Amino acid sequence: MTLLVTGSAGFIGANFVLDWFAAHDEPVVSLDKLTYAGNLQNLQSLEGNPRHTFVPGDIGDAALVDRLLAEHRPRAVINFAAESHVDRSIRGPEDFIQTNIVGTFHLLESVRAYWGTLSAAEKTGFRFLHVSTDEVYGSLEPGAPAFTEQHPYQPNSPYSASKAASDHLVRAYHHTYGLPVLTTNCSNNYGPYHFPEKLIPLVIRNALAGETLPIYGDGRQIRDWLYVRDHCSAIRRVLEAGLVGETYNVGGWNEKSNLDVVHRICDTLDQEAPRSDGRSYREQIRFVKDRPGHDRRYAIDATRLERDLGWKPAETFETGIAKTVRWYLDNQDWVENVASGAYREWLNKQYK
Ligand code: NAD
Ligand code: TYD
Repeated sequence: MTLLVTGSAGFIGANFVLDWFAAHDEPVVSLDKLTYAGNLQNLQSLEGNPRHTFVPGDIGDAALVDRLLAEHRPRAVINFAAESHVDRSIRGPEDFIQTNIVGTFHLLESVRAYWGTLSAAEKTGFRFLHVSTDEVYGSLEPGAPAFTEQHPYQPNSPYSASKAASDHLVRAYHHTYGLPVLTTNCSNNYGPYHFPEKLIPLVIRNALAGETLPIYGDGRQIRDWLYVRDHCSAIRRVLEAGLVGETYNVGGWNEKSNLDVVHRICDTLDQEAPRSDGRSYREQIRFVKDRPGHDRRYAIDATRLERDLGWKPAETFETGIAKTVRWYLDNQDWVENVASGAYREWLNKQYK
């Protein structure tokens, strides 16, 4: 028994693999291209663990993926690998098309060929679990019901459009070829190892560095936040008990405006790491130019996952954000290591 986990050096993939080994003995083969968002330091605590094999590489590299599948004979593939940052997709969509669409296609082709070589029992037990996002559903009006699995796909950014395309390919490989797939569509995650280009880690980092806290537009956009380890527990549960061919929405029932999120971070930092001048971090907030095509609201209805598979998030937003701020305070060296020259270049392009 082995899992092949792609994108495992990124934010959610790394949390998934670390949590996996906290509870399971089953080996994991990690495949990650180590883009700017992938960081082997995230998996450092697994160094020397004979059950973990890290392989640098692209999900679109058919020869490599074919070899890994033949050698390790996994009973499941969990696909986290993606370009994941909406603002980067707006500045340059090409990498998103390449990895999220073309890469997923090649991965599916390799997995389909491998699956065809399995015995009848292995075939039935095999799973391809595709990790996706609520952003494929588009934007909700205020007061509209949260996204269910039946909500039409209406992606608005190059990122969400590329994820939507990958979800459709995964669905088609089930309907056409019978590949036993599962798809999860999760809301915004936060927690340890989150790359500081995304709102929550960016705000924590900038606050501590004495820099401005940029809020796009009026800051009233709403996201539904889920602590990353709750997303990981949902994926484990879907892998274990999800119905083949189904999709499961994953969310924490935690709708918050961006402004509320940033205020909460500032207030937590005011308590945990007060500014030397005694003033609040809220004073560093600045309203900046809005993101083009900015989705107003996302909200996930996770009833199916809760009702059918008995999953529930362990953290509220309040407990999760307290843990997250503490992790960033305790791991400032991690932030400085990932904030490389390329990262600074990105900040200059995006915010100056
Ligand atoms: P991330 O950007 O932090 O990590 C992505 C990882 O994929 C990186 O390690 C990167 O090196 C790797 N990668 C990129 N292209 C690759 C390729 N061609 N081949 C192999 N590896 C490649 O992203 P994340 O936030 O950890 O997101 C993981 C998955 O979860 C993505 O599919 C994303 O769409 C989905 N998701 C993310 C969120 C969120 O809030 N972050 C919410 C819902 C779903
Ligand atoms: P982000 O973390 O990029 O996630 P996503 O766009 O996938 O939801 O952004 C979360 C929200 O925060 C989104 O509404 C955009 C907003 N935002 C800012 O206001 N300022 C920022 O500097 C960033 C990065 C995001």
